Amino acid sequence: MRLCHACLSKPAEIFLDYSQRRLCIDCFLKYYEKKVKQTIDKYRMIKVGEKIGVAVSGGKDSTALIYVLKKLYPSLNLVGIHLNLGIKEYSNHCNEILREFIKKLNIPLIEFNLLKQLGFSIHDFEGTEHGKKICSICGTIKRYLLNKIAYEERINKLATGHNLDDIVEVIFNCYLQGDVTQLSRISPITPANHPKLVARIKPLCMMTEMENLLYASYLELPFRSLSCPLSKGNRSLKQKRLINEKIVQEIPTFKHMLFKSYLKRIAPYFKTYPNVEIFECKYCGMPTSKDVCAFCRLTQRVKKLIVE
Ligand code: AMP
Ligand code: FES
Ligand code: ZN
Repeated sequence: MRLCHACLSKPAEIFLDYSQRRLCIDCFLKYYEKKVKQTIDKYRMIKVGEKIGVAVSGGKDSTALIYVLKKLYPSLNLVGIHLNLGIKEYSNHCNEILREFIKKLNIPLIEFNLLKQLGFSIHDFEGTEHGKKICSICGTIKRYLLNKIAYEERINKLATGHNLDDIVEVIFNCYLQGDVTQLSRISPITPANHPKLVARIKPLCMMTEMENLLYASYLELPFRSLSCPLSKGNRSLKQKRLINEKIVQEIPTFKHMLFKSYLKRIAPYFKTYPNVEIFECKYCGMPTSKDVCAFCRLTQRVKKLIVE
């Protein structure tokens, strides 16, 4: 029997390949919480008295996030925000799991139902020219609505459950595509550069997807384990699989190295990267780099389709 490298007394249950450490369940949970706290402190993500919105999807990452934030900062003004995207055999289930869980944590939950409040769901984009890029369309809708709700609720910072695997996949893709603009936006904390934009934080950016899964599972937190049915075969999932099944097998530190070297050696060059000019959308008044925001362009197209 191998013993935990931290307490040297209990049997090891978890092997962290990137640091070659074996931990028992209790030491893993402590390690996880300490690392999240260190990330929050290092990037000064949360200040005393701030109202923090937590974007909760019902999946393992954001479930682990809201739980660990409540545990680390019991008196923090937290509010959950959930978007019910109207995806069949998925969204209502996520919504139900969350409602009960967030209530138990004694945190208020803001729910936004796309179908009920806007009259369309993500499925309505399937028949449009955007059908092949449904996850990216969905991402645009989520970003817009989460920001709008956070702004209207006077939330100081919006926390999302993005993990190290999510971030590394985006960096990897930016390098492949030479997409410097998108690369310049990758950061553990995104300040608000317009009065209607809410600052964003990613407290789990140093935790791998597997660590979030283990944390949520060992604590028996309720989450939806099957992923979104519309995400099957998308680019991001394929590239994450490639990174985990091929590269990390050969270089266990790959994900940590890629993000750390990006933060230390590449991101500093972006301090002087030209910011795009921000206007207000002529339809909804929310910030945009064009005269009509991406959300209004997408939804007007879909609303017309529904009427026809
Ligand atoms: P994803 O874009 O699905 O990889 O999710 C990244 C993060 O966005 C999650 O960890 C959540 O914080 C947030 N998020 C995703 N979907 C939703 C949703 N339906 N409602 C609220 N937040 C969400
Ligand atoms: Fe957006 Fe699946 S959650 S397409
Ligand atoms: Zn708009």
